[in-house]
Amino acid sequence: MGKIVRVGVTFPSKLLSDFDRIIQDMGYKSRSKAIHDTVRTFVNKQKWLADIKGTKTGSITMIYNHEMRELESDLTHTQHHFESIICATMHVHLTKEKCLETIAVKGEAEKIKRLVEKLKARKGVEEVTLNVFSI
Ligand code: NI
Repeated sequence: MGKIVRVGVTFPSKLLSDFDRIIQDMGYKSRSKAIHDTVRTFVNKQKWLADIKGTKTGSITMIYNHEMRELESDLTHTQHHFESIICATMHVHLTKEKCLETIAVKGEAEKIKRLVEKLKARKGVEEVTLNVFSI
């Protein structure tokens, strides 16, 4: 193990209590160890994503709060901007506030990644996952 650095981080209390409950169920004895593993997974995923090149097929799935002002129209606007790589979109009304949307994509990996980053960056979008295939 390399040099250890101490950092101070604030969490929304619900997120931290959910995290603590999950890591306890998983058998973690140390919150720091669980956070290291979580950050490592995030870093590895971003590195993997950065290496994806060429034409890819896949799906982007996101959960967002449709009651957030202008979010739904912004997301639609973004999707129209990327119409050349979007094959289809499926929308599911999950609860009174939350929607799930799956976007089937096919095209240049760089463009797919740009679309994912645009969606992720928007406030009110809670989760975005990307699955890609080399077809
Ligand atoms: Ni909806």
